[in-house]
Amino acid sequence: MARITLSLVFICSFIVFMSECQKIQEDRQVPRKFPEGFIFGAATASYQVEGGWDADGKAESIWDYYSHKNPELIADLTNGDIANDSYNQYKRDIEMLRELGLDFYRFSISWPRLLPTSFPDKINEAGVQYYNNLIDELVKYNIQPMVTLYHWDLPQKLQNMGGWTNPHIIDWFTDYAKIAFDKFGDRVKYWITINQPMSVCHSGYGEATKAPGIKSPGQAEYICSKNLLLAHAKAFRLYDEIYRPIQNGNISITIHSFWDEPETEDDIQIANDSLQFMLGHYAYPIFSETGGFPKVMIEKIAAKSQEQGFSRSRLPDLTTEEIEMIRGSSDFLGLNFYTSRIIRKNNNEIKYPEPSYFDDVNAIDYQPADWIEEASEIFKVTPWGFRKILMWIKAEYNNPPIIITENGFSSRGGLNDTDRVDFYRSYLDAMLDAIDEGANVIGYTTWSLMDNFEWTKGYTERFGLYEVNYESPARTRTPRKSAFVYKEIVRSRTLDLKYEPDTSLMNIDKGY
Ligand code: BGC
Repeated sequence: MARITLSLVFICSFIVFMSECQKIQEDRQVPRKFPEGFIFGAATASYQVEGGWDADGKAESIWDYYSHKNPELIADLTNGDIANDSYNQYKRDIEMLRELGLDFYRFSISWPRLLPTSFPDKINEAGVQYYNNLIDELVKYNIQPMVTLYHWDLPQKLQNMGGWTNPHIIDWFTDYAKIAFDKFGDRVKYWITINQPMSVCHSGYGEATKAPGIKSPGQAEYICSKNLLLAHAKAFRLYDEIYRPIQNGNISITIHSFWDEPETEDDIQIANDSLQFMLGHYAYPIFSETGGFPKVMIEKIAAKSQEQGFSRSRLPDLTTEEIEMIRGSSDFLGLNFYTSRIIRKNNNEIKYPEPSYFDDVNAIDYQPADWIEEASEIFKVTPWGFRKILMWIKAEYNNPPIIITENGFSSRGGLNDTDRVDFYRSYLDAMLDAIDEGANVIGYTTWSLMDNFEWTKGYTERFGLYEVNYESPARTRTPRKSAFVYKEIVRSRTLDLKYEPDTSLMNIDKGY
């Protein structure tokens, strides 16, 4: 009975919440201003756009190897060999950023393009030249480069040595970061060490759904987490101590997370645990006051490991020194946010045959069928979750400055992307709610500037403000309706839900 009453209370508050939301939506006919100094950008990543996979001395990355060796693992049997040909078309990319009037461009450096041996013994001058050209062209037009050092394209050579499960990667990554700071740091004022650690470790070394495709759930993935956090922290310390005093930039990490909404009041704890395993996994060690992995991860994984007969926890320990090195290793929190899930306790409904991350969390997650769908099956449109995760970060980590380093919508293509326009408007509206409630969000980045190679989905899922024609040798880029809407938001520093773009304002007649 008590359970039913509680559920009713929960459902009622949900209904009240929904009608409140509706009311807010109605009130929102008035344009909303972004805070003073707020910055807007768009993002891409090296493997997803550059192409030139073996051009001018570039070595093989794990994504080259993975997509060449197992083409059937990519939905449309494609790869990033040419992708958007940004290796040759980068000036057009920057022209698009100028058309949009953006403050910054978030792109990534390909480690095997810069260092073909993976190490600093041989620097690829053509690679240095390419990134210099890109950065110089951005600076020329007053667009800040925001550079991600690692967006998943590890040199295959390092993978053959264990990749992120080899603790030597802490030094390998720091050596690579040093070359990047040396070569480009005079002009780059925003560095991001690593993009989405959870995708690197859990998808790459746990579930094998991304390169390098190692299936070692609940084991290699946690070894990866530890090494990755230390590699990030060591690169941060290097920048902080040696480069910051002369180059004066910012450096951080980009973490992604879903928002986990409890199914009922009874599930508040498990939903919070689930967030700790996802966002907290990498954010708690860096942004909390105490540092180290979240307590709930340490406890749950240790308990399960013991039950399973291991002689120590599958989650490796961090020494006090390591905890201190990681703690505080960031100037802002880079957050990638796309979607939300409903979470409930797993009361033995699912039994896991072997140790795994999912077994360790022990939650059931799902997305109700009536949530608005996107082309990607795991992404459903949940702007309300955006506000909630921002408020959660504010409360958990003492309100750090946040840059949204990715947020975007996937379609199957088409220029009149009203669904993407609705997505951006609703997410920006929710983000402004969080800012009104005190969240310290200082910048926003759309994913993506243009369609690109969407990992195992190939070119079947499109995230671009600009559509890319993969039939044309120049990979012609054409602005979608969402590009015009974003441009106006950036120009006016205002979210006006009623704005309808005049598409003739952009150079459509130039044949873009
Ligand atoms: C990644 C991007 C990816 C996007 C859409 C993010 O997880 O950083 O590389 O294309 O999501 O799936």
